[in-house]
Amino acid sequence: MKVEINEGKLPNAGSVVVAVLKEGMLLPTARRLDEASNGALSRAIKASRFRGERGQWLEVIAPAGLKLNRVLLAGLGKPGEVDALALEAVGGGAVQRLMVSGESELTIVSDTIPDGKLDAADCAARLAYGAALGSYRFDKYRTTQKPEQKPSLRSVTVLARAATGARRAFQPLRAVAEAIAFSRDLVSEPANVIYPESLARECRGLVKLGLKVEVLGEAQLKRLGMNALLGVGQGSAHETQLVVMQWLGGPRGSKPVAFVGKGVTFDTGGISIKPAQGMEDMKWDMGGSAAVIGVMRALAARKARVNAVGIVGLVENMPSGTAQRPGDVVRSMSGQTIEVLNTDAEGRLVLADALWYTQDRFKPQFMIDLATLTGAMVVALGHEYAGLFASDDTLADHMLAAGKAEGELIWRLPLGDAYDKQIDSQIADMQNIGANRAAGSIMGAVFLQRFVNKVPWAHLDIAGVAWASKERPTVPKGAVGWGVRLLDRLVRDHYEGK
Ligand code: BES
Ligand code: MN
Ligand code: ZN
Repeated sequence: MKVEINEGKLPNAGSVVVAVLKEGMLLPTARRLDEASNGALSRAIKASRFRGERGQWLEVIAPAGLKLNRVLLAGLGKPGEVDALALEAVGGGAVQRLMVSGESELTIVSDTIPDGKLDAADCAARLAYGAALGSYRFDKYRTTQKPEQKPSLRSVTVLARAATGARRAFQPLRAVAEAIAFSRDLVSEPANVIYPESLARECRGLVKLGLKVEVLGEAQLKRLGMNALLGVGQGSAHETQLVVMQWLGGPRGSKPVAFVGKGVTFDTGGISIKPAQGMEDMKWDMGGSAAVIGVMRALAARKARVNAVGIVGLVENMPSGTAQRPGDVVRSMSGQTIEVLNTDAEGRLVLADALWYTQDRFKPQFMIDLATLTGAMVVALGHEYAGLFASDDTLADHMLAAGKAEGELIWRLPLGDAYDKQIDSQIADMQNIGANRAAGSIMGAVFLQRFVNKVPWAHLDIAGVAWASKERPTVPKGAVGWGVRLLDRLVRDHYEGK
């Protein structure tokens, strides 16, 4: 979708969105349209239950006296409570309402909000950002759609005064929106298209943005002793890969921030095989890696002043004659041995070696891993919050704030010795599952913690949030690209040189 910010007059064609504050208070452009249409808008408001509440919409089709196809009224609530997320929801909601409506051109008016906390440039930029995020689609495999089912909307213009400043504010946001779309594409692709080698190839493509990208194959991983990671892929026809991406936008020699992602391109469960029902969902078991790839792309595209590394373990978990068996013992890169009691608890095996490698090679300021790690996470928090586990309170607090600001909510859960000892093994240093179903997500987290030394570390279990089954204004159904926004914001607010 083409999204632009422009100065100028209201168009005489297409559809226009104007915001309305609580109690139906029209902003200047809405008032002008109301007058020009002989009060059609205020009559429409009176005739409906639209009161300008945040999230409310009213669509007035072909208002008499105007040449416009539609005027959409978007509720914004109380002026003092209008924040970035509210404006993004207007941008995204508008696009979604018109996407297949037959309309091709949308203009969103960015009027000054009295007593608003955002300046005019930011308001316009957030409207545009929301439109960019909300217009995401994954249609490449649809070949038989009828014309009336196809998207009609072609372009979105945010109309703003002082458009130059607004465009400047939108520039980094556009970069993040493109990174999120990339991340969503990777998650949406089926596992016959995105497998370890092809996902590594997608990472390599980011070299053009200035990222340094290395791809380690099985021979190198073997030499490094990454047998926990290799064991997961040993039943697959695809070659396990570890991709190392670096963005060096910070001062030379300053310690990098590090992101580590679980990239299981398909998780059958292995020999501990999953039931057929719903197994297709496991194409998005690489959602953690997609977040890491996405945030690295975002940092590069907006030339963030930070040194960052993104490391993803890419592997396919398949049952076969060469697959790992329940009860196998593997020696991880750290030297610690793991009894693999359940081959379906594979994400932690991937991350064990990836985390160890990351801290060993890069000595980062902090390390955050993301993984669709446990079904138990969905039981605990559903699809609203991701689970946060952290060894460091400052890092955790920064992440909680970033998540809140970006609308990617996280909730902190405990770690601790009493949990940790539940993964001691009879014959090895640890086993990869707990004794029973209790605290399943925490079992995953304490397992990972055994592969982290002194470095501040956090783990995000995104099993419940990586895929959306309900539509939201800036997150269409399907792949969310969850984590890109949160991590980008975290870097921007706390770890970027000025
Ligand atoms: N990828 C799954 C977790 C998952 C489940 C993600 C549902 C998204 C939706 C993970 O590899 C897994 O299978 N975990 C097991 C762990 C168990 C064997 C201890 C699980 O949650 O059942
Ligand atoms: Mn699994
Ligand atoms: Zn998995």
